[in-house]
Amino acid sequence: MSFSCSGKDLSLWREQAKQQAIAASISVKEVDWLLIEVTDLDSLALRLESFKQRSQIFLKYDLDQLTQLWRKRTQNRIPLQYLIGQTHWRSYLLNVSPAVLIPRPETELIIDNALKAVQNSSLDLSTGIWVDLGTGSGAIAIALAESLTKAKIYATDTSSEAIAIAQENINRLGFAERIQLLQGSWWTPLEAFKGEGLSPPPACGACTPRQISGMISNPPYIPSQIIPTLQPEVAAYEPKIALDGGEDGLDAIRYLVQSAPDYLHSGGIWLIEMMAGQGEQVMRLLEEQGNYCNIQIINDLAGFDRFVLAYRR
Ligand SMILES: C[S@@+](CC[C@H](N)C(=O)[O-])C[C@H]1O[C@@H](n2cnc3c(N)ncnc32)[C@H](O)[C@@H]1O
Repeated sequence: MSFSCSGKDLSLWREQAKQQAIAASISVKEVDWLLIEVTDLDSLALRLESFKQRSQIFLKYDLDQLTQLWRKRTQNRIPLQYLIGQTHWRSYLLNVSPAVLIPRPETELIIDNALKAVQNSSLDLSTGIWVDLGTGSGAIAIALAESLTKAKIYATDTSSEAIAIAQENINRLGFAERIQLLQGSWWTPLEAFKGEGLSPPPACGACTPRQISGMISNPPYIPSQIIPTLQPEVAAYEPKIALDGGEDGLDAIRYLVQSAPDYLHSGGIWLIEMMAGQGEQVMRLLEEQGNYCNIQIINDLAGFDRFVLAYRR
């Protein structure tokens, strides 16, 4: 922290920033979130306003620079997470950049759903190979590695910039031994795990067994024509490749339905996040594919259909 100001000056700055947030219909909580990231204050000091009495508060920027940064939030609508380069997701502080989607709170549930699916299986899926396809910041892969302590995790993304951010997060959080990142389209970097076997190894003798215990993906699923109507923070700043699911939003999901049976061993888990309202269509795609069973639509906490779970026959 190379700069300092008085508590009184920071308090004035904070009040002004809150007014600007209200005028721009941005949550005032973001002001304190920014201050926690760029000053030596914690949330309690801000909530109790005890900092006002301090003669010196240390900051990463001077107050003019902080004002410029806040303007980028209120006027240019750049997401705060991109401005500070980090976001909180589950128990992790993750690096983010405009090359990756900002991991969403609702995506936290995909991990809980995966763990429940493991518990409900008669096979021991917790020790196998799991994949996170379209890993972005690496959020899902990291949470999987922490929860499934004996599993080996592979994570792919077509974006080399996303892979670089994911690698930073994986290294910083201590999962480099557990998660292997691979750049490429969906399953392509995982061709070595493709197989023909009917059961988990080693049951199928001469043929190559399919080896994957679980596939998780939060793929792009927003219909192309909806993207320009989303809030500017998303439409203008989050990567199109992370959002755009093609004409009906289902391009990537359709591909994952068709391709996963070549990789998942019998009883393996197929679990994706999708947009509310896509559940019935995804369920139909899985049924028509013919290699899945126990297909379930799972709602989020608000009761919207946001996930689909299936098991490889
Ligand atoms: C909705 S974002 C999800 C990111 C992260 N898993 C999360 O939940 O925050 C979708 C991700 O899929 C990646 N992606 C898009 N097309 C892909 C492809 N053909 N192969 C692999 N990844 C792809 C994007 O780069 C992006 O990181």
